[in-house]
Amino acid sequence: MSDEKLYIVLMGLPARGKSTLAVRLRDAFRKDGIPTRIFNNGNLRRIYRSLDETSRSEFYSPENSAAVEWRKEFARMNMERAKAYLCNSGQIAIMDATNAGRERRATIEKYLDDHSIFFIECINDDEDILNLSIREKIKLPEFARLKDKAATEFLKRIDYYRIIYTPLKVERNYIRIDSLQNMIIEEKHNDVIPFYDRLRDYLVTDEVKNLFLIRHTETEYNIENRIGGDSPLTKKGKEQATALGLFFKKKKISYIFTSKKQRTIDTAKAICEKQDDCRILSLKEFDEINAGTCERMTYEDIEKKMPHVFKKRGASKYHYVYPDGESYKTMKPRIIQGIKKAFFLNRRANNIMIVGHQAVNRMILSHFLYRREDDVPYIYIPQDRFYHIVSTQDKKLFELKRYD
Ligand code: F6P
Repeated sequence: MSDEKLYIVLMGLPARGKSTLAVRLRDAFRKDGIPTRIFNNGNLRRIYRSLDETSRSEFYSPENSAAVEWRKEFARMNMERAKAYLCNSGQIAIMDATNAGRERRATIEKYLDDHSIFFIECINDDEDILNLSIREKIKLPEFARLKDKAATEFLKRIDYYRIIYTPLKVERNYIRIDSLQNMIIEEKHNDVIPFYDRLRDYLVTDEVKNLFLIRHTETEYNIENRIGGDSPLTKKGKEQATALGLFFKKKKISYIFTSKKQRTIDTAKAICEKQDDCRILSLKEFDEINAGTCERMTYEDIEKKMPHVFKKRGASKYHYVYPDGESYKTMKPRIIQGIKKAFFLNRRANNIMIVGHQAVNRMILSHFLYRREDDVPYIYIPQDRFYHIVSTQDKKLFELKRYD
């Protein structure tokens, strides 16, 4: 075992995925046999101060000098603990806090002077994600007491941090990362940083422990062979949805991501009903391929009435853009955005479920399982089976399973 030691200092506004990232890095390093521990200032705050006080935005105001002192004290306590940890058997200490101002980071650099420090700034300004993250956060007991003021108070807290926020710049070693996309925006390192290649790789890898990728069950349009639209489930479709619910009853599913179309939502509802604590989040990114002027037509109609469309699409299905609609290729960015959103909101859970559509699920599958572009639009996406996908550093699994 190497005796290299490292402080990883996270920074970013609240609800930017810092704590989730901290857990992800800790688990990955531990799996590699590298003793790693997280030092989270929020945990100390919750232990030493009353929730009544710390859930209110005023606790985070730079003008509230008593609270400023408390927050400094928690940072100091964690630095002391992290230092002691690395002095003993620990190899990586992850400092999880907003660390938004330069002043705080200068204190960290000054105090944690015995090993290398690497800063990571988490950036994510996607409104949708922010709103969804906040909606989930305020369900925590810490915010429960604020009732309908919880979201406003949390937004105010973010605004207070904005006042002192200074992006990483003068620090010697850092990465600024889009924490939704897992994409590095900027990196700088002046010193040799232990575990750097591994750290960088862990930051950008999309990992999924269990993804259950389901296609909505049978609809009226499916039996008529019509494409697109927003038709309801058939009797058989409803039975299939109930069977899915029973199949997944014993698995803990916290979120089911769907498109905005009724057929995916109704399928998800039947699954959700059998769970103890499950929510449906509908993302427009997972809507089925937009067939433009061909929406609601059957393939036979298209062949007869719009033979040029039929022929051209047949010749190059992946690239063909429906008149006023999309192609597989043009829908790719939104599908990837949907995957990123779903993973961002669900990162801590072991199971993630998406109820999508034929073309959508093909794109999701091809994100994890390499396929030639020309083959993607032909991936088999049945309605009586689902895909179980595992994609981690040390395991890749794609299994098509029956649920009835
Ligand atoms: O037929 C169901 C459906 O989901 C349609 O709504 C969609 O246009 C189609 O599948 C996508 O599959 P393909 O690209 O093979 O036409």
